[in-house]
Amino acid sequence: MSILVTGGAGYIGAHTVWELAEAGRDVVVADNLSTGFRAAVHPKARFYALDIRDRAALDGLFEAERIDGVIHFAASSQVAESMADPLKYYDNNLHGTMVLLSAMVSHGVKRLVFSSTAAVYGEPERVPILETDRTVPTNTYGETKLSMERMMAWVSRAHGLSYVALRYFNACGAHPSGLIGEAHDPETHLIPIILQVPNGQREKLTIYGGDYPTPDGTCVRDYIHVTDLAQAHILALDYLMAGGANNVFNLGNGAGFSNREVVAAARRVTGHSIPAVIGPRRAGDPSRLVASSEKARSVLGWDPKFADLEAIIATAWVWHKSHPRGYGA
Ligand code: UFG
Repeated sequence: MSILVTGGAGYIGAHTVWELAEAGRDVVVADNLSTGFRAAVHPKARFYALDIRDRAALDGLFEAERIDGVIHFAASSQVAESMADPLKYYDNNLHGTMVLLSAMVSHGVKRLVFSSTAAVYGEPERVPILETDRTVPTNTYGETKLSMERMMAWVSRAHGLSYVALRYFNACGAHPSGLIGEAHDPETHLIPIILQVPNGQREKLTIYGGDYPTPDGTCVRDYIHVTDLAQAHILALDYLMAGGANNVFNLGNGAGFSNREVVAAARRVTGHSIPAVIGPRRAGDPSRLVASSEKARSVLGWDPKFADLEAIIATAWVWHKSHPRGYGA
């Protein structure tokens, strides 16, 4: 019994592979290494360098391995890029998922855990956000992820495939071992950018917008540790293996931290003054995104371990300090 992880060399995918492998599961990784890193893949996982849009390559994998379930991360995930190049997102995300689903149907693989996003909600109608709240994406990235969820629902009806979509809020942190962590090029996410200052890679950071309708005027986000996310994928897979029905879950901490609060926490963790200036707003940023994850806790038994923002940042700091150039160092 093997689990296929598409995009298993990317940030959240690699952490999930790590948890699966350490739990003694047999793991197969498929990744085209366009944004992922071969070095991030757990040594016990069998690695296939392939693009999921390559149907022949996928068929070869499904013929060579005995796959019982798929965890599907392989996708493009940059909001700004998705607005500049929407067709890339339709191709890689929607077309890629279409090819993967058709190969799964052909090879009789019936269970799928899917990497979705808080971006499916767009500007929330209220916080904390429930899974039943309206989904009106404000960017192509969120639009394609929502369409991927819908594609799964229709394919499920027709072919008896069951799926869980996991909508993450702000993934962050690194594996507590310090062996794997976050590495994007270019980096756009708040915590890695903040940590570039004490790491000597930038002098200061710019906080995008100080006039939001939030307590300190900066955006509020729900930061969830990447190993807690990884655990949720394993629970979702086990839920499907046990006969669980199609479902959608938010994954967050349920607590919101403002951009200023994140900088302050990083100052305490690193002991560095981390100069920060307020700049103009970044286009498309909702003011507050906070999840209700009660459903994942009650249905999946998910119990995230990293509730404390400083503890989360501390794991990221260990990784970035020891790998200042990501997997190139
Ligand atoms: N920010 C700054 N300065 C920076 C970088 C980020 O102030 O240099 C701010 C952003 O404006 C935002 C907050 O930090 O207010 C968090 O930004 P991130 O880029 O780290 O994360 P986002 O909330 O924009 O994005 C996350 C996921 C996306 C997902 C999105 C859903 O990374 O994949 O949530 O809205 F689509």
